[in-house]
Amino acid sequence: MTEQDFLPKSYSNFPENGFVKWKAPSNIALVKYWGKKPVQIPANPSVSFTLDSCATTTSIAFQKKEDTENFSFDFLFEGKPKEDFKPKIQTFFERVENYLPFLKTYHFQIETSNSFPHSSGIASSASGMAALSMCLMDIEKQLNPEMDDALFYAKASFLARLGSGSACRSVKGDLVQWGAHKNIPNSSNEFGVPYPFEVHDVFKTYCDTILLVHKGKKQVSSTVGHNLMHGHPYAETRFKQAFDNLDALKPIFAKGDLDAFIKIVESEALTLHAMMMTSMPYFILMKPNTLEIINKIWEYRENTKIPVCFTLDAGANVHVLYPSNHKEVVLKFIDEELAQYCENGQYINDGVGQGAVKING
Ligand code: DP6
Repeated sequence: MTEQDFLPKSYSNFPENGFVKWKAPSNIALVKYWGKKPVQIPANPSVSFTLDSCATTTSIAFQKKEDTENFSFDFLFEGKPKEDFKPKIQTFFERVENYLPFLKTYHFQIETSNSFPHSSGIASSASGMAALSMCLMDIEKQLNPEMDDALFYAKASFLARLGSGSACRSVKGDLVQWGAHKNIPNSSNEFGVPYPFEVHDVFKTYCDTILLVHKGKKQVSSTVGHNLMHGHPYAETRFKQAFDNLDALKPIFAKGDLDAFIKIVESEALTLHAMMMTSMPYFILMKPNTLEIINKIWEYRENTKIPVCFTLDAGANVHVLYPSNHKEVVLKFIDEELAQYCENGQYINDGVGQGAVKING
């Protein structure tokens, strides 16, 4: 499928009004997306676990309107109007208008809420843009009921990508790959696809406990962060490494080789931060407690041989990853040894999920 497939020909149906509601999860990258070209084209391929409980729920009530010259929408976040979010949606609508030519036909009442605490440092752009894109595709499906599931989900991921790159990995599947790679069939820079190769059962129920080390606003916005890769002295080597890591992960995912999995995942996390530390301007997004946690995890793994590891996003929080058969002991370890390094002792237990779901009512 290509971008051309996402340009609708005509619609057979224009309902007066309607209502759609979707819940879309967050995701955590194992091979990181860091660096992009216009418009939202990743510099390298990435792969992520889809999460389950960290999610955004969005509903859209839509009503036909007279004026078809402008976009018209209201935006409510957790029940209250949120004006400062509107420009983001306006920009998103402008970006996707060609692909959703009904956007000026309706007035939209958009309501959204997150399952995770506000300003927990967990990025809501992935789940938020994915949930919004699912709603818009659901509306398009009402205008064009013939659309098949393959197009529906690929286009939802395509739209989500135009909102926020990593959002395209929050649409469908438990392990999702995004970015063209010569050895991955049907891989695309335009949208995410469920990982197409064999995946061992151990990864189907992997756990992710998110340690909230620092709940403040992100120090570096993702746009600024990605831009730091332009002219970065290590950029080309880094991009190649991501391609190679996707190759290396193929037998690891198939066999469930956790030692090799851990090496790649932790290296990817530290490389992401190394890129930030070596860019101009440079940033350190880890906090002292991030390092305390990493060292505790290494010590615990060495002593117990339990395959627990960490990954990081572009901030200080730590994602603790482990197979579900070790859940009980690892949760005890987290509670006794790691929670002390979290802001207000807070962490969120999550695990691998399946992607976005429609909510009825
Ligand atoms: C570090 O998807 O937030 O989480 O495309 O600018 O919205 P934009 O960036 P975003 O970047 C995510 C970067 C990351 C790694 C990843 O999720 O792959």
